[in-house]
Amino acid sequence: MRIASGDHGFATRLASAGLDPRFIKGVGLQTMTRRTLLAASSAITAAPMVNFGLVRRAHAQSEPVRIRRGVGAMQPDDPVLVTYRRAVEAMHALPPSDPRSWQRQAQIHLDHCPHGNWFFLPWHRAYLFYFEEICRQLSGNDTFALPYWNWTSDPQVPAVFWGEDSLLDPDHWNDPDNETLPSGPPWRGIGPNDSAPAFAISAPVIDGIIGETEFEQFASLKASAPRPTSPPFGGTASLEGTPHNIVHGFIGGHMGAFLSPLDPIFWLHHCNIDRLWVEWNALGNANTGDPEWLDLEFARDFVDRNGSPAPIMVRATEETTALGYIYDTTPALVAQPSAARAPTTALAGRTEQRFAATNDRVSLLARPTGISVPIPEPLLPTAAVALDGRTRTTAGRRVFARLTDIAPPARTAGFYVNVFINCPYLSATTPTNDPHYATSVAFFGHQHGSGGPAFNIDITEVLTRLNRLGRPATDRIEVQIMPLPLPGREPSDTEFTVGKVEVVLV
Ligand code: C2O
Repeated sequence: MRIASGDHGFATRLASAGLDPRFIKGVGLQTMTRRTLLAASSAITAAPMVNFGLVRRAHAQSEPVRIRRGVGAMQPDDPVLVTYRRAVEAMHALPPSDPRSWQRQAQIHLDHCPHGNWFFLPWHRAYLFYFEEICRQLSGNDTFALPYWNWTSDPQVPAVFWGEDSLLDPDHWNDPDNETLPSGPPWRGIGPNDSAPAFAISAPVIDGIIGETEFEQFASLKASAPRPTSPPFGGTASLEGTPHNIVHGFIGGHMGAFLSPLDPIFWLHHCNIDRLWVEWNALGNANTGDPEWLDLEFARDFVDRNGSPAPIMVRATEETTALGYIYDTTPALVAQPSAARAPTTALAGRTEQRFAATNDRVSLLARPTGISVPIPEPLLPTAAVALDGRTRTTAGRRVFARLTDIAPPARTAGFYVNVFINCPYLSATTPTNDPHYATSVAFFGHQHGSGGPAFNIDITEVLTRLNRLGRPATDRIEVQIMPLPLPGREPSDTEFTVGKVEVVLV
């Protein structure tokens, strides 16, 4: 099923579930009552796995569930955009002493946001939730729901976010940002006609990410805290490392660093990341049941619509309906992420074999750094593998390349990193459809906590493909790192060093 490109919308899914789409779509409906939704969802699922306990506890039955819609389908005067502009303006008008002011809201991100670990998704969901509440409060429009920017279908930053007169263009505000060097204006490294690169956001790439079944490889790896100072330190996995980080670095300016929420597009970018998490759950994938994830509280990070401290636990972020919203692409209640949760062991606990190599060579733009990890024998069966399209698992085994001990680049915007395996002819122009290509990732912002950045890259598929082509990795897996500038960009201070590569068989 293809879901990322949006060709199977909410209406289509309702229809295929035997429901009349007009039931939901009819009235340009912004909100539905929870009662209506519950009725819709139990009709769709007819499965006993649905658990509404948290929903009931969190809200009265009549509390509206708002629908977050895609910005791509909106006219410039869409009520959602009108309200959003009003909120952005009102937040800029607040004094810095008010924690709801535009600058203070961005500061929350700089001070608290977790990156490169499994708190990334729930933290940003809570961040958006409280921000949306503040938008409703300050705009006076209580039906407001944040729009999302689906870069897969609309790879350019939407036109309404451009122009000196646009309240959604960061150049209009020229907010101070000492995280970003050089400081703007212009506050973006791109123009209105630039498209986010396909290798980060195309439908096949996003479908591959949504097809992931392992929670940590979807949502990033287990860490001891949002900004860990003791192991485990986590690791950036596919959703965060590829579309999330690359889109940040593609836009650049504010978006290239941790004061990125100063750019009004930030909130729509994260809304889309959040939507993909909902989509992933809706496909029947459960979040981890690990209490170290569920019971973590973001204690001092957020403020509510009145500016009062608002602590929230990870488990309270799992179901968007409990937070009062769903997406127009997904009837979120089809699959409750906390239902049918199998007891899961963190990836690290299931490691069968681990091989490692260290490195001290600096990675420079357009130059490959190959780090060769010796292995005793092929890690995946080299015999003919069934060509059923399910190359993701081979005899149930997965192989990951973990890039750790990284000395990060001074600046993270404007470039990305292609990762190849055992490619004898690798050059800066080797395309991403080469059989040796594994993925593309990017760095984002500074890493907080003491673990430093790390990437967890799935190489199951590339190893399987090379086996099929008669080029099996028999005695070594060379992980090749190829940093490249984004089209039209000339980034500087991009040097970094990947100190260690581990090849992990799970
Ligand atoms: Cu905490 Cu996309 O950023």
